[in-house]
Amino acid sequence: MFGARCLLRALRSCSSAPCPRHRPAARVSVRGALGIQSANGERVKVQGWIRSVRSQKEVLFLHVNDGSSLESLQVVADSSFDSRELAFGSSVEVQGQLVKSPSKKQNVELKAEKIEVVGNCDAKAFPVKYKERHPLEYLRQYPHLRCRTNVLGSVLRVRSEATAAIHSFFKDSGFVHIHTPVITSNDCEGAGELFQVEPSSKIKVPEENFFNIPVFLTVSGQLHLEVMSGAFTQVFTFGPTFRAENSQSRRHLAEFYMVEAEISFLESLQDLMQVMENLFKTTAMTVLSNCPKDVELCHKFIAPGQKIRTYAKKQLSSWGADLHTEHEKYLVKHCGDIPVFVINYPLALKPFYMRDNEDGPQHTVAAVDLLVPGVGELFGGSLREERYHFLEQRLARLGLTEAYQWYLDLRRFGSVPHGGFGMGFERYLQCILGIDNIKDVIPFPRFTHSCLL
Ligand code: 4AD
Ligand code: MG
Repeated sequence: MFGARCLLRALRSCSSAPCPRHRPAARVSVRGALGIQSANGERVKVQGWIRSVRSQKEVLFLHVNDGSSLESLQVVADSSFDSRELAFGSSVEVQGQLVKSPSKKQNVELKAEKIEVVGNCDAKAFPVKYKERHPLEYLRQYPHLRCRTNVLGSVLRVRSEATAAIHSFFKDSGFVHIHTPVITSNDCEGAGELFQVEPSSKIKVPEENFFNIPVFLTVSGQLHLEVMSGAFTQVFTFGPTFRAENSQSRRHLAEFYMVEAEISFLESLQDLMQVMENLFKTTAMTVLSNCPKDVELCHKFIAPGQKIRTYAKKQLSSWGADLHTEHEKYLVKHCGDIPVFVINYPLALKPFYMRDNEDGPQHTVAAVDLLVPGVGELFGGSLREERYHFLEQRLARLGLTEAYQWYLDLRRFGSVPHGGFGMGFERYLQCILGIDNIKDVIPFPRFTHSCLL
């Protein structure tokens, strides 16, 4: 075992870099190359896939993309390089000199000295066609190839950037990141939308259940976060979540990512809503400023007319039946097509953990949803029932007392008022990119009757 100092010393002294006897061309990403302000003949190597080929009498122009940016790098080569293998979709490695481009379209271009085709692409059979803008529904049939198009490239870069922005937001706000489990024995939302987990028959263990009890894929990390909020005042998790909802709608998936936070010593919905609002605003601004071209591509070609609107806050109280998609749409429209918080839902409609408002015949709980234009419900959250006796009675009425003894324990040993929320990450991406169907903002969508790859 290393001591901490010893480990640091060892890390500093070890390196896998080869001895610099002869210096090969440095490998650069397309983004790195395009970012060079004044190229001066630096010898570099670029690896990627050909996005376009234009052959003139004496020169050959290639555009090479490696997924690091929406723009491709222009490669200029002598026509002697021209070959049938240098075709749309082929993978290549190009070595040459980075020079200032005479064209206004780009700062730099790569003057090729050596071009190697790493893998050919049969353009006729390739489902992605040269210079065609394929509809998203068409691309959905090819989850193994669609990432090679501009639009999916942009969406997936934004997804990666948004993931980092969300982690930064929580880190900067002092939250501790908790890895909540994927396999669990509880149904947090009590809606019965669980996928049960069992070993395949070949490797069945002699006991009836592998874990002795029935277990499921998680529908929410909330209850595990609540455990942690008994020791850390602010925690969050961001991971895959599973719901066996029989829905092919444009906003439901069977596997989606959820961002969840739990805050101790929090007593009002207003304070919770402030965190939700800050999370949404801060991360959306980071994404907009870090990948403006990717966002613009989505707005221009996928959702023309849809713009990110300024975020204003209005409040509605609702009582009665649950809200369906049409009601959510109506509320958002009614408030001027801006995000809307809906608070205080009827107790009878909500899960056992929400805090009783004790408000007479209406009988509501301190719940909050954030509805956004085009998507509907983006966040769901609440104050949690931290009072032992209230919770005990609710659980008893639902016949859950035994299963949730550990949860009651949290109220016996140093209970504090607390609350939290969950935000559907794919719905968040739909909202900021204006993408109509949730299946187009996740690399490999899983939904009823479909689990490709
Ligand atoms: O409103 P929900 O069900 O809330 C919870 O699960 C809480 N336990 C979260 C918490 O307080 N920690 O789900 C939260 C959000 C929804 O508002 C929605 O954006 C998203 O998760 N969501 C889905 N996204 C895609 N496909 C589905 N099937 C989804 N179900 C919920
Ligand atoms: Mg909800």
